[in-house]
This record gives sequence, C-alpha cells and structure tokens, in this order.
Amino acid sequence: MGVNRLLRATSGLRRAAAALSVCLLTLTNTVSALAQSAEGFKAELTVRADQPRGTINRNIYGHFAEHLGRLIYGGLWVGEGSSIPNTRGYRNDVLAALKRLNVPVLRWPGGCFADEYHWRDGIGPRDKRPRRPNASWGGADTNAFGTHEFLDLCELLGAEPYVNGNLGSGTPQEMMEWIEYMTSDSDSTLANLRRQNGREKPWKVPYFAVGNESWGCGGEMRPEFYADEYKRYATFVKNHSGNHIQKLAVGSQSDYYEWTEVLMSRAARQMDGLSLHYYTLPTGDWAKKGSATEFGEREWHATLARTLRMDEFIEKHSAIMDKYDPQKKVGLLVDEWGTWYDTAPGRDMGALYQQNSLRDAVVAGINLNIFNNHADRVRMANIAQVVNVLQAMILTDGDKMLLTPTYHVFEMYKVHQDATLIPVELTAPEYRSGEASVPTLQASASRDKAGAIHVSVVNLDPNRAAQVTLKINGAAHANVTGRVLTAQAMNATNTFERPEAVKPETFTGFKSEGGAITLSLPSKSVVVLELR
Ligand code: AHR
Repeated sequence: MGVNRLLRATSGLRRAAAALSVCLLTLTNTVSALAQSAEGFKAELTVRADQPRGTINRNIYGHFAEHLGRLIYGGLWVGEGSSIPNTRGYRNDVLAALKRLNVPVLRWPGGCFADEYHWRDGIGPRDKRPRRPNASWGGADTNAFGTHEFLDLCELLGAEPYVNGNLGSGTPQEMMEWIEYMTSDSDSTLANLRRQNGREKPWKVPYFAVGNESWGCGGEMRPEFYADEYKRYATFVKNHSGNHIQKLAVGSQSDYYEWTEVLMSRAARQMDGLSLHYYTLPTGDWAKKGSATEFGEREWHATLARTLRMDEFIEKHSAIMDKYDPQKKVGLLVDEWGTWYDTAPGRDMGALYQQNSLRDAVVAGINLNIFNNHADRVRMANIAQVVNVLQAMILTDGDKMLLTPTYHVFEMYKVHQDATLIPVELTAPEYRSGEASVPTLQASASRDKAGAIHVSVVNLDPNRAAQVTLKINGAAHANVTGRVLTAQAMNATNTFERPEAVKPETFTGFKSEGGAITLSLPSKSVVVLELR
C-alpha cells in the first residue's frame, strides 16, 4: 500500500469513528431525554372550589395597539382600496382571528406615541389629514387611522375602548375637547363636528389614561410633579351624556415603588386605576436582550425566572396601594407586559417585530395565571402588542397572516373572563438551572357562570412531564375535558410556511377514577382543563 493510500484509509477510518461517536452521543442524549421525560415528576394540585374569591375581570385579557411598526398600518388597517380582503379598511383575516379571542378591551394610540399624538390630526376626510413624523418609532404617520377608525374597530370587535391621552406634549384643553368630541350627545360644535365626520351617536369611552410612562418617554417627570399634573389634567376629563370614564394614572415600571407611593399618597382619590409596566427580557439587559428564537435551556430558564417576577411586583405595588386604598377602589392595570427580544438581523429596529415561540406561550400562561390570582387588585392587563409588535397575537406579511403560540394561550384562557376566581394549592418540585430555581408548575382556576370549573396549568420544565394528582374541594365533577399547547422544541414557532406548527390539541393525559383525577402534563406545556 502506498503512503497516500494509507493516509486516505486512516482518514476514512477517523471520519467513520467521528461519525460513530456523534451517533452514540445523539443516542445517549435521546435516551437520557426519554428517561427524563418518562420519569417525570410528581405533584399535587388542589382546587379550592369551596373558597371562591372575587371575579376575574375580563379586561385582564386585554390588548394594546400602538402606532408602531406594522401594527396599525398593514396589521390592522389596510384601507378600503387594498387588495387584501377588508371591511371598511380593516383586514378581514385579523378581524376574524381577534373576534375569536373575545378581546374585552383595546388600548390605543400608545405607548410613547400617545404623548406625541394630537387627535385633530386623525379626523375628517382621510385625504386631508396631515402626515406627521412618528417621533417615537420612526417613519411617517398618514393619520388614516384615527379616532373614528379606532372606535369603530372596537365596536366591530365588541371590545371596550381604552384611549390613552396626551399629557407629555398636549394641553388639558386638547384632552378635554377630545373627550367631548367622542362622547357628547349635545348640540355643541365638537359633537356636531363628529356628526359631520360620519358618526351621529357618541361612543362610550369607559377608560381614559392621562399620559404614558411619564417617568420616561412621556416627559421624564418626577413622581411629585406627575402627581400634580395628573390631578390638573384629570380635572378636565369629564363625563358627557351618560358616559362614565374611569380615569387612569400613569404608574410605575417593575420595581419603581417610590412612584406608586407618591401617586397613591397624593392622588388616589382622583383616580380609578394606576398602571404598571413590566417587560420580560431573557437577559434583563436592554442593550442585549436575547434572541426570540435562538436560545437554549439556560435562556429558557432565565426568561421564565424573570417573567415570574411579575408576581412579586404586583404583590409589592398592591401592598403600597393597600396602605392608601384599603377598600381596593383603585385598580392596578398592567397595561403593558410581555416579552421583548433583540430585533432579528435585517429587520427595522424601530418596528419591534419579533417571532413568537412556545417559550412565549409559556410566558403568557404564567402571567395570565398571576393576573387571575391577583384579581382582587389587578383589574386590567394589556399585552404588548396585538399584531406584528413585541409579543404579538398575530403576525402578518402582506396578505398572509399567522396566529402565534401566544394567541393560542389567550384563546384557551378566555374561559376565565368574568369567571369567579378559585384559589389553587400546588405542591411541586423546583426546576433548577445552576443556582437559580423556579417552580415546575404554576396554575390558576375559576368557575364560569354555567358552573364549569376551568383550571389552567403551566409546566415550566422543558424536560420532564408532570404526574399530577388533582383534587377539587367543594365541587362535584363528572366530566373532564381539556386542551394542551406544546411542541417538541422549546423554540418551536409558527411561520408563514408552517402556520400551524404550534397549536392546541385535545388533552387526553388524564384518568378519572373514583373521584381522583390524575394528570400527565407534557414537559413545556400549557394545559386548560374543564370540569363539569
Ligand atoms: O410597547 C412599546 C413601548 O414600550 C411603549 O410605547 C412604551 O410605553 C413602552 O416603553
């Protein structure tokens, strides 16, 4: 054998050995993953139907639509002349998908954009409306979507409008006149202008916010200054013609407790609600937030650990609110929440478009459970945002549309809207990553008006299934059904090529014997059960 042939033969052998070792490694990983998931972990979940609490306000399942990226233009609104099928300019596919969610409330026009928005730009004939730069998010706004378009959309969806006023660059007079324009049935000049623009009857506008993030993009204010400004502006937020407005004050972000303390001590009597904003970043670092789709178990765990902090923030802000408002007249409104990732390469940074994976579905399930369990104080929550922006329900690309994993969680959880909260007790192991640990399971439950009990459970563990003994105290149940959302991969997504890769399936992992129910919850899953 010549030297060259010998070298070729040995390198062939090395390649074969390397390939074999990759096979063995894959096999070992698969076997250990199978062993882990077959082994699972044991847990107990007790649903205290004998201890009903208050009502879960349906507005916890609320949404948010800002003039940002492709949310309004392209996502909701394409205009009457578009080749994309539409109803008076609203995309039919998006409208139909949102109707299936029972959207209870929709917040508009921002966000940061609210404090630069002047409502008169968005009324009257569309071809006469001014184009304005969107100073918050880039590009120009044609103002084709304005007050009439927003309030008509709410009517089409059967959602209550939540209008966010401009405190940062507007005046109390502008705010006062906007409200009169929308809600007055009188013979005033502004009510007549609305009629002239095509709307005879006034709209009902039950929620109106005085500014947005006034500690940041809304004006960089100190809480003391904002509290005074809030009271001044809120004085001119008037009720007309039987419309009753709940006045909402700008609240804190995450752990900015001093803001809540100052606002509650100085202005609690003048407000119906105080907001809270908290975004989940996998890294917690705004300069390098993390990818929406390229992540491993470390980032999965870190994201869930950070999103669970919502519970702590609500607890602590509520404790401050309790000091000044023990009767809980003022609602805590989490009117911006959700995941926020780095913009994918090649995408417009200002548009905040991001993919949405099974991890987002788990984040949604966790947060909605937290809000349900704090229904005594949390009266509204608005995920950011509804289409094509941040943790969206819906993504569009031209005439194509897909429903995200997060959409499916909202659709599965809609049974909790306006149902009676039932406390749950969970005994489950921790899910650890290095030094950090989170619960493996997290849940909430409610009883709807027809008497059915709904239990939503999230298995945060991406490797192990949960064997759960479910006990229902204080209610009989003859029939159990359920749905589950899961996928093989933590970062599974729906794409325009495979729009149904992640979608709910019928849940069959339960046994009901002699009054005892056992559940087998897949790893990394969201399950909603119905017991009748
Ligand atoms: O949701 C995107 C932005 O996040 C909102 O405009 C602002 O209120 C927040 O900082």
